[in-house]
Amino acid sequence: MVKILENKMIVPNICTITVFAPEIAQSVKAGQFVILRVEEDGERIPLTVSDWDVEQGTITLVYLLVGKTTQRLATFTANDTLATVVGPLGNAMEIDRFGKVICIGGCYGIASIYPIAKALKEKGNQVTIIVEARSSYLLFWQKKLKSVSDQLIVITRDGSQGMPGHIGKLQTILAAPGTPPDRVIVNGCNYLMMRAAQETSPMNIKTIVSLNTLMIDGTGMCGVCRVTVNSSTKFACVDGPHFDAHEVDWDELTQRRKAYLSEESQTMRSSQAQ
Ligand SMILES: Cc1cc2nc3c(=O)[nH]c(=O)nc-3n(C[C@H](O)[C@H](O)[C@H](O)COP(=O)(O)OP(=O)(O)OC[C@H]3O[C@@H](n4cnc5c(N)ncnc54)[C@H](O)[C@@H]3O)c2cc1C
Ligand code: FES
Repeated sequence: MVKILENKMIVPNICTITVFAPEIAQSVKAGQFVILRVEEDGERIPLTVSDWDVEQGTITLVYLLVGKTTQRLATFTANDTLATVVGPLGNAMEIDRFGKVICIGGCYGIASIYPIAKALKEKGNQVTIIVEARSSYLLFWQKKLKSVSDQLIVITRDGSQGMPGHIGKLQTILAAPGTPPDRVIVNGCNYLMMRAAQETSPMNIKTIVSLNTLMIDGTGMCGVCRVTVNSSTKFACVDGPHFDAHEVDWDELTQRRKAYLSEESQTMRSSQAQ
């Protein structure tokens, strides 16, 4: 049983949850995730560890409300308990002194890019963070992100804050005078990651994405998370979740992501009817 210390909605449809998990807090590294079960008979869902506090023994996860489990999770409050939180899982993001790095986050990726940017900044990189959202009211953690970057660029689709447009604006940012970045790292929905990869590909900029495939066990046994990278099969849970974006088979990934769409919708409908 894992105790919840805080669970709240920070912007519409996105919540942050902090739980007491000292062993995970002590060993987790930027880019790793946990798999949690809200209740004993519930499904297992992977969520990235977006922040942690070793002294307090806490980890913080930021989650988008998409289906049955995330909706159920949002109903829990401080002092409630989660059935299990297993982790840290997956590989840490490669952190080195690359030079100039652009970190991009959209949706829950606005949070999961934070520890990555922080680790890169601590390593001495020049870090630019780009956050993308439909509108300014969907942005969060801007103060935190500013504290771990040299520059924070905001893109909103309705132009309510920062540059108007979507991730296609990356082209304009990359074309600005000055040396191009040595590396781009993208967290968020598959579409955002794929589009960012399309922008960096012509300039041959190394681009790393953190794939959010379907997952069950998270330990390389079930095969649900398989993806094709550089024409070979990889398991996102143990070989990833971070891969070279220019080597990912995005069409296959998009298809596999939709494999249980009707079951997920049905589960959602029946849980709402209860
Ligand atoms: C390594 C890893 C790290 C992740 N980190 C986070 C995180 O930090 N925060 C977070 O919010 N999510 C994260 N995810 C995605 C998260 O696991 C799913 O959103 C979650 O399992 C959905 O569970 P559900 O039962 O609520 O929805 P489901 O019933 O599984 O899905 C409901 C609907 O949402 C769609 N959907 C589900 N997941 C996604 C997705 N990832 N992208 C787009 N559409 C989706 C489904 O196609 C379906 O239509 C991560 C996934 C992986 C593999
Ligand atoms: S989630 Fe089962 S092999 Fe990756």
